[in-house]
Amino acid sequence: MIFEKMNLKLKNMLTEERYQHSCMVSKVAEEIARYYHVSTEKAKVLGLIHDCAKDLTHHDLQDLVKKYHIRLTEIEKCIPGIWHAYVGAYLARDIFEIDDPEMLQAIKYHSTGSDSLNLLGKIIYIADKIEPGREINSNGKIRELVWQDIDQAMLELLNSELKYLVSKNEIIHPDTLQCRNEILYKNKFRRNDEKSRKTESFKKEE
Ligand SMILES: [Fe+2]
Ligand SMILES: [Fe+2]
Repeated sequence: MIFEKMNLKLKNMLTEERYQHSCMVSKVAEEIARYYHVSTEKAKVLGLIHDCAKDLTHHDLQDLVKKYHIRLTEIEKCIPGIWHAYVGAYLARDIFEIDDPEMLQAIKYHSTGSDSLNLLGKIIYIADKIEPGREINSNGKIRELVWQDIDQAMLELLNSELKYLVSKNEIIHPDTLQCRNEILYKNKFRRNDEKSRKTESFKKEE
């Protein structure tokens, strides 16, 4: 389906405010994707439709969860705010004719994050949080960080999300924690790797 057609369809599914948010996420995602040599086409589309299920009523979301046989865990049943991401992945397939698993995954995990997110998925997660209409803590810092180290930017966003959830005594989805752990683990691994490379080159010099 061509982008313009998606745009028209989406406009009818969302409030004006949400539609504007989606257009900005689309632009930001496209920019980040270009910078990191990821498909700008995919990023642009995903940015646009990531929240396609967000303005459905709770009742409609419940019906779609049933229709698509989405098996919510007990924890997920307690966090209805994330259902739109799971349902959205199915609507992306059925309404927007997206059949690319990488794209469907990015929609599914744009709300919670996941340790299985690839670069495209991270771009959508980040673009959703930093588009110009969004107010977040340490916004400026994260906006700069995106162009230096995308994992670090992701980590900052996850940290601020987790701090917020803790401050509100809200349930935290395990995927969000695992997403953060994965980044920290990779960082540690990368640092250890660099350290051992330095030690090796030092030994060679000796
Ligand atoms: Fe969302
Ligand atoms: Fe969003």
